[in-house]
Amino acid sequence: MKVFVTGAAGFIGGSIAAGLVRAGHQVTGLARKPEQLEELAKIGVTGVVGALNDRDLLIAQAQAADAVINAASSDNRAAVVAIVDALSGSGKVFLHTSGSSIVGDASGGEGTDHIYFEDQLPAPTADKAARVAIDELVLAAAGRGVRSAVLCNTLIYGHGALPRDSVQLPRLLKQARKSGIVRHVGRGLNIWSNVHIDDVVDLYLLALEKTEAGAFYFVESGEATFRDMTAAIARALNLGEPQDWSLEQAREEWGYEMASYGLGSNSRVRGQRARTQLGWQPHRPPVLDWIAGDMLR
Ligand SMILES: NC(=O)c1ccc[n+]([C@@H]2O[C@H](COP(=O)([O-])OP(=O)(O)OC[C@H]3O[C@@H](n4cnc5c(N)ncnc54)[C@H](OP(=O)(O)O)[C@@H]3O)[C@@H](O)[C@H]2O)c1
Repeated sequence: MKVFVTGAAGFIGGSIAAGLVRAGHQVTGLARKPEQLEELAKIGVTGVVGALNDRDLLIAQAQAADAVINAASSDNRAAVVAIVDALSGSGKVFLHTSGSSIVGDASGGEGTDHIYFEDQLPAPTADKAARVAIDELVLAAAGRGVRSAVLCNTLIYGHGALPRDSVQLPRLLKQARKSGIVRHVGRGLNIWSNVHIDDVVDLYLLALEKTEAGAFYFVESGEATFRDMTAAIARALNLGEPQDWSLEQAREEWGYEMASYGLGSNSRVRGQRARTQLGWQPHRPPVLDWIAGDMLR
């Protein structure tokens, strides 16, 4: 297939693009900066320079492709509108990358028993309403003749195909290296579902071939508390026990969104649909094993 991937120079998009090429697909990737084209060529991707707000470019590329994967942003509504308009009535696949902070509770590092399933999504908080509305737009595109699906990723760990960091663990690592103390938000009892980037790539490839129109998938293969992850990081770096950080201090370091949701909330989800409908079998090492064995390589 000819696949158009946005965010192709990024952590998720670059890994998906490389996986698609390995599987024999022909990939065109959107990159924001001209200097990223060389990097894309090395993984076999034809790069196109442009931005998500360039509607005409997105429409032209989407229409020239057999399928589109949006991995540049979970929060750019204009790009999703352009891609859906371009694919309307075509029956082509459109996979949109979302993130499971949509169920985040901003608990300040406290834990929860609450687990979310794909058919019982909560009403979003005010902070996450715009992201959820984009997901709904993607799902509704099924009614306009697009084989659209939302892949709602959890905390992704692992090394991507390009030298780009994921969102959460690299921020903890960077802060720890800078200060010599590993920190989590509050008591770090908050829990996130998680998944290895190589298992994520497997899932996008399966969804490209098999997804139903209008399907929402949680992408997860396990979960861990932040306290367990910071303790594993501390051991890997040979540092002392991880320490609590107030939400205010965490916000100063990581900003409101990252401290409240990315690092300080619970996001416990279960993704059955990828396993039952697509036959996805995630099998990479669990997050704590990856931190201990592979993170610093
Ligand atoms: N990593 C995770 O654990 C995770 C989990 C769930 C959801 N998500 C979401 O998935 C999305 C991608 O995540 P990621 O970790 O792959 O991030 P990333 O490494 O920053 O990749 C995003 C890529 O998209 C490009 N991009 C962003 N905005 C763009 C725009 N307006 N026009 C053109 N290109 C644009 C970036 O360009 P530059 O190279 O110029 O920065 C980058 O190459 C984000 O919205 C993230 O919140 C991530």
